[in-house]
Amino acid sequence: MRATVSLYICSLATAALLGLTVSGQAGSTAAREDFKILCADCHNADARGNGPLAKNLSKIPPDLTRIKQRAHGVFDKQAVYDWILGLKMTESHGTREMPIWGDWLMDEEIDGDTSIAEAKAAEKEVERRVMEIVKYLESLQVED
Ligand code: HEC
Repeated sequence: MRATVSLYICSLATAALLGLTVSGQAGSTAAREDFKILCADCHNADARGNGPLAKNLSKIPPDLTRIKQRAHGVFDKQAVYDWILGLKMTESHGTREMPIWGDWLMDEEIDGDTSIAEAKAAEKEVERRVMEIVKYLESLQVED
């Protein structure tokens, strides 16, 4: 546990450093990887929405480079974050086609660990990962 936490802090420090050196570029490397693995099947690798799985869905995965444009020039980080985690269910229950990433990532992070301390650490890590993905998405917004 202690080892996990210090490793975690260590990777946070690295991420912060990386963040400084690549600021202005398209998000952290980890967030880009997460996007490729978790999101690109539906939203496509370029986030424009027509991923390989899209044709199997009843709803078209939206173009994620135009979130800001659709909201008339405002990129609402909190709303995007809540949506990805599954905290914001805009439509009636059961109609969401996108996975609840908060639950999915928690399962992955916890990975058989059951203590409260580990669950809390896992929760923090999930929140951090999703916030990185949100920042990555923010960096992809088209301006027009
Ligand atoms: C199984 C396909 C699928 C996967 C995988 C997926 N999405 Fe989605 N996503 C959708 C669909 C479909 C919608 C439209 C709303 C709905 O689910 O009904 C959507 C909507 C969204 C929205 C709301 C956009 C808006 O303007 O309203 C965001 C943000 C988003 N996805 C981000 C992500 C991120 C980030 C990931 C990866 C962590 C991801 N999605 C993975 C299918 C998917």
